[in-house]
Amino acid sequence: MNSNKKNIFYEKIIEKVSRKEYKIGIIGMGYVGLPLALAFCKKDIVTLGFDINENIINSLKNCVSYINHIKSNEIKKYVSNNKLIPSENLESINKVDVIIICVPTPLNKNKEPDLNFIKNSLDSIKNFLHKGQILILESTTYPGTTEEILKPFIEKEGLKVGKDFFIVYSPEREDPGNKKYQTHNIPKIIGGCTKNCASIAKSIYSQITEEIIVLSSTRAAEMTKLVENIHRAVNIGLVNELKIIAEELGVDLYEVIRAAATKPFGFMPFFPGPGLGGHCIPIDPYYLTWKAKEFGIHTKFIELAEEINSSMPKYVVGKISNSLNDICKSIKKSSILILGIAYKKNIDDARESPSLEIIDLLLKMGANIKYNDPYFPKFPKFRKYNYVIDSIELTSENLELFDCAVLLTDHDCFDYELIRVNSKLIIDTRGKYNNSSNIIRA
Ligand SMILES: NC(=O)c1ccc[n+]([C@@H]2O[C@H](COP(=O)([O-])OP(=O)(O)OC[C@H]3O[C@@H](n4cnc5c(N)ncnc54)[C@H](O)[C@@H]3O)[C@@H](O)[C@H]2O)c1
Repeated sequence: MNSNKKNIFYEKIIEKVSRKEYKIGIIGMGYVGLPLALAFCKKDIVTLGFDINENIINSLKNCVSYINHIKSNEIKKYVSNNKLIPSENLESINKVDVIIICVPTPLNKNKEPDLNFIKNSLDSIKNFLHKGQILILESTTYPGTTEEILKPFIEKEGLKVGKDFFIVYSPEREDPGNKKYQTHNIPKIIGGCTKNCASIAKSIYSQITEEIIVLSSTRAAEMTKLVENIHRAVNIGLVNELKIIAEELGVDLYEVIRAAATKPFGFMPFFPGPGLGGHCIPIDPYYLTWKAKEFGIHTKFIELAEEINSSMPKYVVGKISNSLNDICKSIKKSSILILGIAYKKNIDDARESPSLEIIDLLLKMGANIKYNDPYFPKFPKFRKYNYVIDSIELTSENLELFDCAVLLTDHDCFDYELIRVNSKLIIDTRGKYNNSSNIIRA
């Protein structure tokens, strides 16, 4: 029972953490890693920020933010007082007590988990690990990753997990751009390889987060993150299906969902849209689907939701086509204005955005496309979609030039009245307008 007390490595790191005399190294300074690093810096913890992308490290060294909701001044404050130390040199991992991995976990071409970023991170730090450190994985992944990949990797290096080295899985639950819920008030889930592992992580994260929830295993923590996102994907799939039924019934689904949400228990509102986007919801469910196959289990709900959600861009294009047809026009040669390319409102992230697929389909059908997204003054380049599309200012004169405006991202800063008054035809995929002769919900 007193084994904790006898473990000198455990005791030493717990003491360092309680005195705030420890250093953190965060691997991957993207949407997750940078806010996390700043949260620790704010609490006076020296944080080394590592990234393989030179541009990111140079931006940090020059105190220039590359994430819209993070101000350059905030980076400057911590870089100039040496609390945040950007570095491309992973050798410095030997100087830190806590290593947190926040690298991407995408899917490969066959929609299977691609853990290469995690594996590469481990390979590049293995020579700099030492006894007494704690390694925390925050990247989203399938249940079993920590036990099946991280733990054997560390043990191969001669370290003993739970005794002289500690491993934890703690999923990132950040919602970029959310002003109400940020690192400090989003409860932190922790699953340790051992109780000691979890207990160290608890003392670390409680310095930046109000509520810590310790689960019984790393697997449970890994699955928690997936369940959160699967819950979202499945419910969005449901309302996307209901949207099509409601339209046939002549019912306003947004009115219905808002009404249902007045029930004070047992209902959580989700709203339809042009399809899933971002780095999480379209990807994470597949991590469980893949793992379930190991047990011969077919994740029917997940795949059905995916089928419905991924059909939404084509559904929207169908609506555009029909609506233009009603005014004797075709998509070919029509001038179409895309409003919003971010995958959700008020953020500068267009990864996996359904807007890109919709633009791609429209261009292939011969439409002339321009766009406006206040978060993207220039059309970004993606591996899959590499288009040069002009941004156009939203003025009454410009809006009048288009046969059709397609609202794909409901950014708060759009002037919806200006768009409504000056557009010939609006295809609204976000329920911002009521149906009328020239406004079509899709
Ligand atoms: N973005 C979100 O809202 C969000 C929310 C919750 C969870 N997550 C999860 O967190 C993880 C990270 O996501 P993100 O959005 O921050 O990704 P990101 O692409 O914004 O950032 C990841 C960073 O890791 C760097 N990187 C990759 N390999 C590296 C290596 N070997 N060494 C050092 N740096 C390396 C990349 O250059 C990149 O800058 C993913 O698993 C994601 O699913 C993301």
